[in-house]
Amino acid sequence: MPNLEGARTPRFLYGTAWKEDRTAALTELALRMGFRGIDTANQRRHYFEAGVGEALAKASGENLVTRENLFLQTKFTYLPGQDHRLPYDPAADLPTQVAQSMASSLEHLGTDYVDSFVLHGPSSGYGWTDADAQVWTAMLKERDAGRTRMLGVSNVSLRHLHQMTGLHAETPAFVQNRCFARFGWDREVRRFCSERDIRYQGFSLLTANPEVLRHAFVASLAARENVTPAQVIFRFALAVGVLPLTGTSDPTHMKQDLASESLKLSDKEVQAIESLVG
Ligand SMILES: NC(=O)c1ccc[n+]([C@@H]2O[C@H](COP(=O)([O-])OP(=O)(O)OC[C@H]3O[C@@H](n4cnc5c(N)ncnc54)[C@H](OP(=O)(O)O)[C@@H]3O)[C@@H](O)[C@H]2O)c1
Repeated sequence: MPNLEGARTPRFLYGTAWKEDRTAALTELALRMGFRGIDTANQRRHYFEAGVGEALAKASGENLVTRENLFLQTKFTYLPGQDHRLPYDPAADLPTQVAQSMASSLEHLGTDYVDSFVLHGPSSGYGWTDADAQVWTAMLKERDAGRTRMLGVSNVSLRHLHQMTGLHAETPAFVQNRCFARFGWDREVRRFCSERDIRYQGFSLLTANPEVLRHAFVASLAARENVTPAQVIFRFALAVGVLPLTGTSDPTHMKQDLASESLKLSDKEVQAIESLVG
């Protein structure tokens, strides 16, 4: 079983999607603000992984961070999720593509290991396929070779997870999903994860849930604690065991997101938010 609660699994992840030529500057800013967990992907269409590496080099050059106190997560993305800027040979078989993607990520990030390597999404929305099984087996090899400490899967349904864990002896350390409040904040997948010591990472906590952000109950808690509704949502996520992602470009929001951890919500309030809209 991987060590999920090790000192290097942070409480918050800074997401680096959609930042293009601002990726290096924003990742560096996030590190200066105190983030120690970075989420990226070797998918040039949405992420500029080499820009993340540039920020890491600058921050470690200035002794702001060491590799040991950073948590770096990247992803393998299938061909249909990529544009023409591929991190692997599209004609190669899937295990080779996984190995090439990982080698390229390590080069981009200037490191010889990542902390978490995630399958960006299964090949089909309907279930765990033979292709996914091949990719997962190749990812296990990367882990066994020491190029990643842990493995994860993203954009998965309960069905994917049941099929995957039925087929493979090794379960993921992480599941990373979009977290919709109207589905009980992905209640079923979160339950599946908590029963198996899988750490659930939630993204789009704000953008997927505008009805919660403007809900009167959340507004009243925010007013009482003198914080923003976004901070209430992040505090709620932490309280129910979600490892939240934020991709904010705003230094004030970076500070607020990290500070949300110290906000006080009662168990009853957390339960109320959990079933506020679904
Ligand atoms: N696995 C996947 O398929 C997948 C998919 C999507 C995302 N992700 C990961 O998750 C990360 C986060 O993505 P996301 O979808 O959650 O969206 P996001 O990039 O975090 O966007 C959040 C939006 O909310 C705004 N915002 C307002 N107040 C905020 C506050 N206090 N804190 C943070 N944001 C605030 C932000 O604007 P400001 O910039 O002005 O703050 C931004 O427009 C991505 O960078 C990526 O790493 C993964």
